[in-house]
Amino acid sequence: MKLLTPTKLGSIQVSNRIVMAPMTRSRADVAGVVSELTVRYYAQRASAGLIITEATNVSPEAVGYPMTPGIWSAEHVDAWKRVTSAVHAAGGTIVMQLWHTGRVGHSEVRGGRTPVAPSAIGIQGQQHFTPSGLKDYEVPRALTTEEVRATVDDFEQGAKNAKAAGFDGVELHSAFGYLPHQFLVDSANERTDAYGGSVENRARFVLDVMARLVRVWGDGRVGIRLSPTLAYNGMVDSDPLATFAHLIEQLNALPLAYLHLMRATPDAARFPTWPQDTIATFGPMFRGQLIVNGGFDRDSAEAALVTGPAHAVSFGAPFIANPDLVHRFATGAALAQGDRGSFYHGGEKGYVDYPALPDSEPKAARGYWLVLATVVDPVQFGKYAAVAGPVIASYGGRVLARGDVAQVVEGQVPRRPYFIEFPSYVVARACFDSAAYQDAIALRAGAAQFDIVVVEGMAP
Ligand SMILES: Cc1cc2nc3c(=O)[nH]c(=O)nc-3n(C[C@H](O)[C@H](O)[C@H](O)COP(=O)(O)O)c2cc1C
Repeated sequence: MKLLTPTKLGSIQVSNRIVMAPMTRSRADVAGVVSELTVRYYAQRASAGLIITEATNVSPEAVGYPMTPGIWSAEHVDAWKRVTSAVHAAGGTIVMQLWHTGRVGHSEVRGGRTPVAPSAIGIQGQQHFTPSGLKDYEVPRALTTEEVRATVDDFEQGAKNAKAAGFDGVELHSAFGYLPHQFLVDSANERTDAYGGSVENRARFVLDVMARLVRVWGDGRVGIRLSPTLAYNGMVDSDPLATFAHLIEQLNALPLAYLHLMRATPDAARFPTWPQDTIATFGPMFRGQLIVNGGFDRDSAEAALVTGPAHAVSFGAPFIANPDLVHRFATGAALAQGDRGSFYHGGEKGYVDYPALPDSEPKAARGYWLVLATVVDPVQFGKYAAVAGPVIASYGGRVLARGDVAQVVEGQVPRRPYFIEFPSYVVARACFDSAAYQDAIALRAGAAQFDIVVVEGMAP
């Protein structure tokens, strides 16, 4: 199954193409600090190729919902450090979704301050969740040009803090009608300065932010989420094709990790002039790695990877009740259904109490290329790993971590599991830069139906 094969999203090596989509769970404290429950929640889901955290506010001004986390204070950084350490210790990778809600907020959850937005245009026909119940949206206050620039700075600081907290990268939440999206669409942006008017001007905020995030993170570690054909939160652009084609073209100039694209919901059908197949329309415009999202199951996700243009698929709701979603997809096991009543609030219940299937441990290393000759001693490990890692990676492989189980499925080696417990990793004891060795790996790597390839007995 292609879903279970490793790949690289920019510079981020992932062990499979099953991404955990960002999901607000509203379990932070009133100061936006996540707790040990959140550490457990993400660690339980570390077998995902990549975890994208719940949307996380970059500043106090960014907050729009109660109990959502932040990444602007030292306390936030320390709390998130515990999350990233736990996910990494469990063999996973994790990026932080950076958030500013803009006009999708309410003064009641903002200490009495009116929400801010590109223009003073309120959301019609929807209500907002507040501690005292659903409330009509207020008319937001339009940001001054100086405040727009300060908001770009806030995103940069959020990116720096996420780096300090040990994440593998960041994703800009530029979807679902939040602040970056509000700048993009002309139903929410009537500015007359450099951030409004033409398509070029409306894209400026997102591109300014993305350039700063890349400046902080370097190549291949910044992603962006877009939902070009989602009308939710009043995102009704007069020409989404022109707006998002321009944006994606500009994004191509940046060394990004990925584009995370939301496929059309039935919403799009209300707008006959909009592209109806979001992924087929916008996906091929992006020249990097593409993650797609929206109502996929195992089979439709696999089909999306096989037919393209997607390189990975993200799953939201299925990860809530199935912490071992990867294992369930690998084995074809049934999925548990989550309790919607505890999606957005509560403590442990509906958060960390969904069990993994009993046979999901220890984690099988399916989808890895394993090059194994012998277990090297810890002193030699660093040397071998440094040489072997890039060679293995160039064939889509990954050096196994301690605790992985490698089920050998090919070659002369008897079919038996290797339990990798010493020292930290296993690498081939061989001459990794010899052409013969590389050919041997390439030969086996070509037989892509195998999960694991063993290369043995090739002495330096
Ligand atoms: C409880 C919940 C919270 C969500 N919070 C976020 C969020 O913080 N950021 C975001 O970009 N999308 C958020 N989403 C949307 C999901 O990332 C995803 O796009 C959506 O669930 C559709 O994917 P699915 O069909 O696999 O569930 C949330 C979805 C759910 C169910």
